Amino acid sequence: MEAKIVVLDGDGIGPEVTAEAVKILDVVGERFGHTFHYDHQLMGGCAIDELGTSLPDETVAAAKAADAVLLGAVGGPKWDIPTAPDRPERGILGIRKALELFANLRPVKLNEQLIEASTIKPDVLAGTDMLVIRELTGGLYFGPRKEAGEEGFEAYDTMLYTRPEIERVVRLAADAAMGRRKKLASVDKANVLASGRLWRRVATDVLAEYPELEVEHVLVDSMAMHLIRRPASFDVIVSNNMFGDILTDEASMLAGSMGMLPSASLGDLKNSHGLPLGLYEPIHGSAPDIAGQGIANPLAAVLSVAMLLRHSLGLADEAQAIEDAVDAVLDEGARTGDIAHEGVEVVSTQVMGDLVAEKLE
Ligand code: IPM
Ligand code: MG
Repeated sequence: MEAKIVVLDGDGIGPEVTAEAVKILDVVGERFGHTFHYDHQLMGGCAIDELGTSLPDETVAAAKAADAVLLGAVGGPKWDIPTAPDRPERGILGIRKALELFANLRPVKLNEQLIEASTIKPDVLAGTDMLVIRELTGGLYFGPRKEAGEEGFEAYDTMLYTRPEIERVVRLAADAAMGRRKKLASVDKANVLASGRLWRRVATDVLAEYPELEVEHVLVDSMAMHLIRRPASFDVIVSNNMFGDILTDEASMLAGSMGMLPSASLGDLKNSHGLPLGLYEPIHGSAPDIAGQGIANPLAAVLSVAMLLRHSLGLADEAQAIEDAVDAVLDEGARTGDIAHEGVEVVSTQVMGDLVAEKLE
């Protein structure tokens, strides 16, 4: 098949990890007979520097015309100016909204080989395999807000949700759970927040259509605890934008490192293959402290490519081949610094990419 992929390399370690992900796509293309056309576009801090805006119109237009979008990471201290009119992060939020990517899928699966890399006890971690689905275009990130401005007296953000916004993401999560272990935890703060009570009411209505699912409604503070107390008991977790952001950073430590976790953002827009036009990115940030040193873990980006092949191109075998190759490389002991432990040899970003590529070939 032929596919057009927009690549947003971004800032910090974004370009480094994305280069490895593209390398893997090329190997997949050769081995399975596909042609991937890449269209590199600017977004984030690099776009502010070159074009004066974090999300150029041209980038949005290219993304809308693509089959999928691959993103590295954006942001850095250089653009961290409280009074600046634009920030790199606005680019990410803008493109999520422009492509109507209302559901962010973040699988958290422990690679047994990395059980020692986590700060959590191995017997608690064993069997952890969950899919967190984060609502991505509503809530606190997009509700009415007031900036404090120069005088800095008052500011607010609003957690605004409508019934259809909650319905569609809960339905997507329920469908995902039906294809997995048929368990769903819906996270809210219904004991305090009005938006949390709406979330729970709508989730309850939607989930009544899925009698086969084992459902639990969990308060977000309680979920923060349960994630490290009984992680293996969760299958699919669905939550709002803000809570999902926080819980997935926490959950990433179950998998050993943020450097391991990919994500897929999906909505209703379809690509030229009739499949969801998705955006794929590691859940980690641009890590400016280690940028340019060639030490970042490219596996989250590589695994994001596997999600891209599966969800936006329907290439499940190819996706599996990448995941198997990553497993095999970890089995053989290759580690970047973030997942290393004493006594192992630490490899660079590029070598890690090469090792996965060799396995795939
Ligand atoms: C994420 C990130 C982003 C978010 C930032 C970079 C805007 O933390 O994708 O989890 O908060 O959504
Ligand atoms: Mg985050």
